Amino acid sequence: MDPLAAPLSEARALLEQLRQERGLLDAPGVEARLDEIRAELAVAGTYRQTFDELEFGARIAWRNSVRCVGRSYWPTLEVVDARDLRAPEEIFEALVDHLVYSTNNGRIRPRITVFAPRAPGRPDIRLWNDQLIRYAGYRQADGSILGDPQQADLTGRLLRLGWIPPADRGGVARSRFDVLPLVIQIGAAPPRVFDLPPGAVLEVPISHPDHAAIGYLGLRWHALPAVANMCLDSGGLLYPSAPFSGWYMGAEIAARNFADEGRYNQLPAVADMLGLDRRREETLWRDRALVELNVAVLWSFQQAGVKMVDHHTVTRHFVGFEEREERKGRPTHADWSWLIPPLSASATPVYHRHYEDLEIKPNYFYQESAWREAPGAPDYAECPFRGSLPNR
Ligand code: ARG
Repeated sequence: MDPLAAPLSEARALLEQLRQERGLLDAPGVEARLDEIRAELAVAGTYRQTFDELEFGARIAWRNSVRCVGRSYWPTLEVVDARDLRAPEEIFEALVDHLVYSTNNGRIRPRITVFAPRAPGRPDIRLWNDQLIRYAGYRQADGSILGDPQQADLTGRLLRLGWIPPADRGGVARSRFDVLPLVIQIGAAPPRVFDLPPGAVLEVPISHPDHAAIGYLGLRWHALPAVANMCLDSGGLLYPSAPFSGWYMGAEIAARNFADEGRYNQLPAVADMLGLDRRREETLWRDRALVELNVAVLWSFQQAGVKMVDHHTVTRHFVGFEEREERKGRPTHADWSWLIPPLSASATPVYHRHYEDLEIKPNYFYQESAWREAPGAPDYAECPFRGSLPNR
């Protein structure tokens, strides 16, 4: 079969969708544009999307993301064209810009920065980080982990690569919240490691409006979730580096990052701060701690002027999104198990609805993580699974 048939038919589908959604169905141009694309594909095995095609594809990919409950905001995605950047230093600079502009001092603007697509004869640009901002997880001598256990493998790999945590350089103690450096790899070249400048990372210290003791736990989290390891698949092209960011739903941090036993595991400590009886499950100390931790995160972000959404509001917006889509004649596909929030699920409208879980393109897909696959990766044997971490 003609190897160009698939990209060409995906390019056609995207062009037709773009025209249809813009109400330009009768406008001429699709066939002429496809002739150009066909000719470019024949010579180079790839083609260059117009900015309009790139932007539309990135937004529709968000709209099609079955696991995302925040999709109602898809039309607002700002798309930054970074397809011409090749040097690790310029790529790093674009990533820092991304963080600064998307964070916008807390008035977060959803944004994606798209680097070069995969092309024959051109090395892939890959980011090792699963998000642009993540906290290190240091394996300690006693087997425990200081920081985010989810990042322990990457942190170990970086230390062996020669990364010196800024804390070590500054002569202060390593903490549970040391921001990891960005790692950029071009093809099979050695990865380049860049520490983020402090001004690029807005963080929020966590305290509680009524229970001061929760503030004594010293928890903090970064303002911006910026997924960096998914591949944008649009118009027959693959963009393996296309980091995107929006704002958090409070429960992602409070009910998962802080609460999961395999993450910061803070429910026992929170319960103790609240004076709850942990000897018996029936006191529901876990549930009560969860609720107060969620209150603390939402309140702290609000105090800090950092945009965040709660799980009741975002699920209501999601249903509004479904209704708008339906009026446009488009079905909404979703993965129910990801839409429902990790606490109070049945008190939100999505819990009571049914969804068909269908992945259509354009979309953001998981891909093999660059660093677990890198040649000579000593961590490979430690790794129980080959894929990248889910970004929930
Ligand atoms: N759940 C991930 C985290 O806690 C973030 C995934 C993306 N979330 C978002 N609101 N855009 O870091």
